[in-house]
Amino acid sequence: MKFPIYFDNAATTAVDPRVVQKMITCLTSEGQFGNPASLSHSVGQAAKALVEWSRAEVASLIGAESSEIIWTSGATEADNLALKGAAQLYQRKGKHIVTLKTEHKAVLDSCEQLEKIGFSVTYLTPEPNGLLNLEKLAQALRKDTILVSIMHVNNELGVIQDIEAIAKITSARDILLHVDAAQSIGKIPINVANTPIDLLSMCAHKVHGPKGIGALYVRRKPRVRVAAQIHGGGQEQGMRSGTLATHQIVGMAEALRIAKEEMTHDYHHLKKIRDRFLAAISAHDPVVLHGDQATCYPGIVNLRFSKWTAKEFMQMFPMIAVSSGSACHTKGIEPSYVLRAMGLMVEQAHQALRFSFSRFTTEEEIDFAVEKIVESL
Ligand SMILES: Cc1ncc(COP(=O)(O)O)c(C=O)c1O
Repeated sequence: MKFPIYFDNAATTAVDPRVVQKMITCLTSEGQFGNPASLSHSVGQAAKALVEWSRAEVASLIGAESSEIIWTSGATEADNLALKGAAQLYQRKGKHIVTLKTEHKAVLDSCEQLEKIGFSVTYLTPEPNGLLNLEKLAQALRKDTILVSIMHVNNELGVIQDIEAIAKITSARDILLHVDAAQSIGKIPINVANTPIDLLSMCAHKVHGPKGIGALYVRRKPRVRVAAQIHGGGQEQGMRSGTLATHQIVGMAEALRIAKEEMTHDYHHLKKIRDRFLAAISAHDPVVLHGDQATCYPGIVNLRFSKWTAKEFMQMFPMIAVSSGSACHTKGIEPSYVLRAMGLMVEQAHQALRFSFSRFTTEEEIDFAVEKIVESL
């Protein structure tokens, strides 16, 4: 067993060795190191072929066309491009955006920036279980609403929003829907061919791909447009300039290809791991689970122990790498805004811990961690 035991896979995952092998072939002079935009020679053409193979892989996972995939540096950039890019182009239609208070900061801070330049944003409060109330969403929509942004799997809680139901509401009103799928891509199915999602953010590093690469799905039929936020060489249909990082792109595609093939297996593995962990812990402590358990993605467990704050837990068990929702700010430690939005008290939020598992988490690791925790309870 390797220490610390890594239960922080919602923050990032280890790259799958199969992905590394594929990435290595795009770096040195023996491999496809060329600039995918240098099409006057075979070196560039070979790199371009790999980029397009990758685009097709990512597209096929979500039921999209290759031309609907725009490479970015990660989900943060994809979120920024979706929100700011759509706001800029559709502002003549209206200047109102609807989102949820429990979204990732990449969405919330983009909304805040848009507010500074004249857009108005409604931040919906989730239900105490973390889920979006569809009636509240419908009520929040206005004549001038141009965009709704709701994430698929929440990064702190693991709760899964009902994207199909949300898409029905937005498409009936001709409002764009952006989905942040950073935590769900390659883990649970999402299909833009069956669901009227207009924009969808993805990244590779939550699913055993490399950091620093992601993509934005931009619907073509009916045509959705986003204004570029990075200008330069005009790559990615002018929506995102910059030399494409072939090794990163191939790494993302390979990670998602494997994830697609192994999705059912991985899901059952995570469910088994999560159930084993929770059964053993709750036999000794009345832990409180945060977020709707019926819909939770099993790779993420957010809970609080009765006797420890998150800080105490992390000091006591340095051999277990987990995450707390609390964030360090200049003014001190701030409790998770996600848990606060769900109605938890400050003290309860300070107790919250996130355990997140992956394809590589073993039962042995679970048993070891549980044994250590239970010994101290
Ligand atoms: C839901 C969600 N959105 C966006 C991001 C940002 O992704 P990236 O690290 O690829 O910029 C993350 C990861 O932290 C996330 O969990």
